[in-house]
Amino acid sequence: MNTTRRGFIAGASALAAATASAQAEKAPAATEEKKELGRLIVSPPILQNAAETSMGVGFAVSDMANGYVEYSESPDMSGAKRVKCGGFRVTDMNDKIMLVRLTGLKPATKYWYRIGADRISYKGGYKMSIVGTEADPRVYSFTTLGPGAASTFCVINDTHAHMKPFGMAVDKIAELRPSCVVWNGDACNTQETIESFLPIFYTPAIKRADYAAEQPYMFVPGNHDTRGLASRHFERAIMFRQPEERLSRDWDLGRNFAVRCGDIAMVGLDTGEDKLDDRDIFAGLFNFEPYRVAQRAWLADALERPDIKSAPYLVAFCHIPIFDPRPDANPGDVDKDGGGRYKLDYASWQRTCKNLWGPLLEKAGCQVVIAAHQHRYRYDAPNAEHAWAQIVGGGPELGSYSQKKGDKYVKVPDSGKFPTVIEGKVDGGQLRIVAHDVLNGRVVGDFSYPPRKA
Ligand SMILES: [Fe+2]
Ligand SMILES: [Fe+2]
Repeated sequence: MNTTRRGFIAGASALAAATASAQAEKAPAATEEKKELGRLIVSPPILQNAAETSMGVGFAVSDMANGYVEYSESPDMSGAKRVKCGGFRVTDMNDKIMLVRLTGLKPATKYWYRIGADRISYKGGYKMSIVGTEADPRVYSFTTLGPGAASTFCVINDTHAHMKPFGMAVDKIAELRPSCVVWNGDACNTQETIESFLPIFYTPAIKRADYAAEQPYMFVPGNHDTRGLASRHFERAIMFRQPEERLSRDWDLGRNFAVRCGDIAMVGLDTGEDKLDDRDIFAGLFNFEPYRVAQRAWLADALERPDIKSAPYLVAFCHIPIFDPRPDANPGDVDKDGGGRYKLDYASWQRTCKNLWGPLLEKAGCQVVIAAHQHRYRYDAPNAEHAWAQIVGGGPELGSYSQKKGDKYVKVPDSGKFPTVIEGKVDGGQLRIVAHDVLNGRVVGDFSYPPRKA
């Protein structure tokens, strides 16, 4: 067994929290515990899966815990309701991440909330106790989405666990205060353990570590978020969307969303890996082709929903672009170099997704597709083939990139390499998209689109 595999198993077994004997070995005597215990709640809350009537809340813990969220429509927390982590039956006791789903909320409504957790000593199915309870003293707030919410969003992408560009983006978002933020994929690199998700999402080494405590995020996976053993347990870090957001047919499409953010209908799609499922290096472990096809049926239905159809503006989000004007850009549906035509052995864009989803977006009058993946900001204007524009966000590189020279990598200056925050808002009866270069503090794109025809 190699070390990577061992590391993952250690993480997974701790999360499962099922082996009483292992816990019994670990657990010191009660008096000793009191002396040595550090903080139980070790991160601010992270709002996730923003929706019209639900909100996900996650936070990190340092020990076996049973977490909860209390929420109220009043800042003094009067009449607060408490919701425990996990679902019905048993709570999700674990020692890493507490995930709490708040459901039955009112649309476009401000709620105040706080987080807490019981520390659990678990020594077997009949021998468990609460060792103490810790509550974060801060009262936070969030506002649900819906047609009545402010028509504003931001997009970040390709942070790749680099804290400097992530911190820059978060600072810009704190200034803009949108209704929600789309994290458009490649937050990760290749994650082998559940623990490795923590510094990416829950305890990032940035000035505003509470970046998502009052600012809801929605996650759109990128190709890197599917890599590594831990990607099979990504839902332990960022929850699947609420089941009521989709049909039972689409039970496994927990990353797709179609939500109203004021006058804007936002649709999230998952382009998956950037290599073919049968590529030699993947050992047959990937299954993205049927996933992309399944999302077509989901998208067709989502676009017909009255709340989505009636929105004056429609914006789609996906990690890998679904268009590329460059003839030598690998379209992802051919093996490796396509007979020497392509420089890169992975998809620069996803022709399969364009063919599956593009006509539906076109018919629905989608104004803009916001994509990522290429690590270089680009604007693709509508063309004769499709009426939607495409905006590709920048990557984590800060004014240079690494190029292999011989056995070494050297930094090559490149002023086109900068991280972006893409801002969307309704302004003067138009959908306005502003692309901010957060490295150089400038606007690199400013585009407006009229409402779609009813
Ligand atoms: Fe990336
Ligand atoms: Fe990517």
